[in-house]
Amino acid sequence: MRTQVCIIGGGPSGLLLSQLLQRKGIDTVVLERKTKDYVLSRIRAGILETGMVDLMREAGVAERLDKECFVHDGTVISYGDEHFGINFKDLVDRTVVVYGQTEVTRDLYAAREAMDGKIVYNVDGVVIHGADSDAPYVTYTVDGTEHRIDCEFVAGCDGFHGVSRQTIPLTVRREYEKLYPFGWLGILSETPPVHEELIYASSERGFALCSMRNENLSRYYIQCSLSDHPGDWTDAAFWEELKRRIPTEAAEKLVTGPSIEKSIAPLRSFVTEPMRWGRLFLCGDAAHIVPPTGAKGLNTAASDIHYLYHGMVAHYLDGDSEGLDRYSEKALARVWKAERFSWWMTSLLHRFPDQSEFDLKMQQAEIAFLRTNHAAQVAMAENYVGLPY
Ligand code: PHB
Repeated sequence: MRTQVCIIGGGPSGLLLSQLLQRKGIDTVVLERKTKDYVLSRIRAGILETGMVDLMREAGVAERLDKECFVHDGTVISYGDEHFGINFKDLVDRTVVVYGQTEVTRDLYAAREAMDGKIVYNVDGVVIHGADSDAPYVTYTVDGTEHRIDCEFVAGCDGFHGVSRQTIPLTVRREYEKLYPFGWLGILSETPPVHEELIYASSERGFALCSMRNENLSRYYIQCSLSDHPGDWTDAAFWEELKRRIPTEAAEKLVTGPSIEKSIAPLRSFVTEPMRWGRLFLCGDAAHIVPPTGAKGLNTAASDIHYLYHGMVAHYLDGDSEGLDRYSEKALARVWKAERFSWWMTSLLHRFPDQSEFDLKMQQAEIAFLRTNHAAQVAMAENYVGLPY
C-alpha cells in the first residue's frame, strides 16, 4: 500500500488529522491497534476549547456537537466551606463547551466512514522504518499477515504507550516527567448534573470534581490513593466521599445513582522533545501527558493537529515546508503552557501526602488571591478557555 501520510493511532487526534487532510485531497491511512468499539468504550474528558470546536467545524464534523454541546461561561472553585465562580465570558469574553471525547471520536469515525477513509483495525507489531530518510514506510501485521505502507510522512498519534515516540532515538529524544502521588477515581452515572457549571473542589479530604456529559449523564471524580482499586469503592462509598468534599448546598442536592463506569487514573505530567524527527511527527499523548485538572489533554492534542495540518497543507498545496519544519517548536511552545496550567491547577486543588502546614497556607493564600484578584482570574480564564494557537 502507498499513502501520503500514514497515521498511527485511531483515537481522536489521528482521526481528526485524517479527516482534515483528506478534505484537502491529501491521502491518509490510519492504523489502529484495537477495534472501533474498543476505542469508543474509553471514557475521557469532556471539555472542549473553542479552538478545538473550530477545528471540528473545519473538518466538517461539528454538526451534532453544535446541536448537543453545552456552552459553559464559567466554572466554580470551592475550597473548604467557601466557593466562588470564575466567569470566562465576563473575564475574557470566551467560553468552553461540554461534549465528551467519546462523542468527538464517534462523530469522527462516522465522517471518516462517510468519506471512505482508510482505517485498518486490529494492527499488531507496528514498526516505523526510515523516519529520518526520504522514503519512510510502516510495517504491521493483521491476523498474522505482514503488511507494508510506503508513505511520505508518518503522524504518531498512538498515545503514551505507542511505538511512535519510541522510534525517536534516545540520542535525540529528551523526556520530562512529573508523577503525582495520587490518582482520580471517576464514575459516570445516569443522573442529572449537580450544578450547571463544573465544580472544582479542594477539601481537607482531597480534591473532587463535578462534571457532566448531558442533562442526564454526570461525571464525578475524587482524588484517591494510588494503591486504591476501583473495586475497593462501592457506589455508596464514592457518593458519600464526594459529598464530603463539595460545597454543602451541592452535596444536599446531589442526585446519586448506580455508576455505569468506574475507573482510576494516575496523574502525570510528561513532555517529550522534539516532537518531530525527520518525517515522523508526534501528536497528542504520544508526545505529552497532562494531569486532567483543567481538561487540557484532548485540547492540547487538538493544537498539535492544528499545527501539523496547516504545515501539511502548506507543504502539499503551496510547496512551503516552513510549517512542517517549525512544527516541533510551535507545538511545544503551546504544550509547555498547557503543562504549566495543568500542573498549577493540580497543585492548587489537591492534598499532597507530604504537604507541610506551610504548603497548605500557600495553597490557601493562592486560592484567596484568585478569589479576589481580577488579574489572577483573567490569567486562569485565558488558560482554561485555551491559549491562542
Ligand atoms: C470530565 O468531564 O471528564 C472532566 C472535566 C474537566 C476536567 C477533567 C475531566 O478538568
